[in-house]
Amino acid sequence: MRKIILVGYMGSGKTTIGKLLSEKLQLPFFDLDDLIENETQNTISQIFAEQGEIKFRKIEHTVLNQFIDSNDEFVLSLGGGTPCYANNHLLLQRDDVFSVYLKTSISELVSRLQKEKKHRPIIANLSDSEIDEFIAKHLFDRSYFYNQSKTIVSVDGKLPLEIVNEIVEKLA
Ligand code: S3P
Repeated sequence: MRKIILVGYMGSGKTTIGKLLSEKLQLPFFDLDDLIENETQNTISQIFAEQGEIKFRKIEHTVLNQFIDSNDEFVLSLGGGTPCYANNHLLLQRDDVFSVYLKTSISELVSRLQKEKKHRPIIANLSDSEIDEFIAKHLFDRSYFYNQSKTIVSVDGKLPLEIVNEIVEKLA
């Protein structure tokens, strides 16, 4: 299966792992947020601020479906919320898709996201002390959707290349 989709919370390393995996498998790499930004000629933060999250989720759903149906071989990193809206999680189970959930602990996500929250509209306005509780609850809600992926790889404490090798083994 050569339609590979990476799923996980913000900060789980979808883009880093996706790029490395695509090099290893010699497949083109795409990031859904980049596809949306190209399509709309707007940044994700602008779309959230000017059009709101509901509109963003509609655009995200359309761009995702068009992309999967019109490309045969790729590694695609989704946004952290993508599987949780508009029945996008059903795509993760398609016969022609190999979906991977990059499972990351709350403490690891908190420490990664505290450093880079300003580019992430969902958490940009939270104080450092609010982020912990927000991520714990949010991850709990979203896990239901992430767990629909065909395979789950725990990423805590692993080097990017170890994670990539694990995914490649599961693909074989
Ligand atoms: C979002 C995650 C972001 C981006 C948007 C919404 C989310 O992607 O799609 O800001 O709801 O978790 P990353 O997971 O690549 O940061």
